[in-house]
Amino acid sequence: MKPLKATPANIKRAAAVIRRGGVAAFPTETVYGLGADGFNPGACARIFEIKKRPRFDPLILHAASLAQTKKLFSKIPKPALKLMKKFWPGPLTLVLPKAKIVPGIVTAGLDTVAVRVPAHPVALKLIKLSGRPIAAPSANLFGGLSPITARHVKNQLGNGPDIILDGGKTRVGVESTIIAFLGGKPVLLRPGGVAVEKIERTVGKLFTPSGAAKKPLAPGGLKKHYSPAVKLKLINNESEARPGTRSAYLAFSKRPLGKYKKAELLSAKGCLREAAANLFKCLHSLEKKGVEVIYAERVPCHGLGRAIMDRLKRASNE
Ligand code: TXA
Ligand code: MG
Repeated sequence: MKPLKATPANIKRAAAVIRRGGVAAFPTETVYGLGADGFNPGACARIFEIKKRPRFDPLILHAASLAQTKKLFSKIPKPALKLMKKFWPGPLTLVLPKAKIVPGIVTAGLDTVAVRVPAHPVALKLIKLSGRPIAAPSANLFGGLSPITARHVKNQLGNGPDIILDGGKTRVGVESTIIAFLGGKPVLLRPGGVAVEKIERTVGKLFTPSGAAKKPLAPGGLKKHYSPAVKLKLINNESEARPGTRSAYLAFSKRPLGKYKKAELLSAKGCLREAAANLFKCLHSLEKKGVEVIYAERVPCHGLGRAIMDRLKRASNE
């Protein structure tokens, strides 16, 4: 089925799909999600099948309000509540002890659950009309690039989802920041749409997973995760790249001097927020060019630059 414009009537259709145990792709402010009824294990299982995602990688539950999220946790530490009030709706996911009603398939058997309230009118309306939290990973094939347009979803998942809602290009462009609370400490599991510095202003210094626990916490933190189909090489500047018809170039703020099959620019202004919003669109575009290598410039590692560097490092398998 072709993506359908996210009109009120089509959002209603998508909600009906979710309620009867189907799978609907929908826009959020970060990337497109592949959603199913978060309380229906069979429906959630289909997400894994469509994405070809291993079952040990848990899903994020999307809720429409803070009140709705509270029913999904068994315990909310005070600093976590502060973050919820400050950043929801928005690109922040919290990992906290799960309530009994959350099925094991959502959390891959963990005793914690990841939850967020997306800041996107289509996503919020869809969750409200569905009448339950929506479990949704990014709507790409496992290991593939995250989709920021309905077309990206269609290209990767084809007729997998029962419906794809088209809400245009997403605003933030990288996935949500994921914070867990372990032994009372805030731990950064994935840098993303909310800058780490902003979160630290609310809850103090964030810990790294290795500093806080022994076993891997974000199973999706598998090293190679956001990978274009083409080899990606991280570089400090253009002198490290080899121009030619078999290479592509991802620049931060200045176009490269050499000739490449295709070059993309993340932000002419050198704005990290704009760069994050363009990241996956540029990677999708370069990946399509049939080149052997994509040279990608490192970006400054602060603000949303951290989320960008995280994705680029994983894509390069560094
Ligand atoms: O912006 C986003 O977060 C997007 C949109 C659709 O909301 N979703 C997204 O989902 O990026 P996904 O599945 O691609 O990434 C979720 C990550 C995975 O790496 C998963 O391992 C981690 O969250 N995660 C989920 N539940 C967890 C838990 N209980 N403990 C640790 N990590 C968890
Ligand atoms: Mg993903």
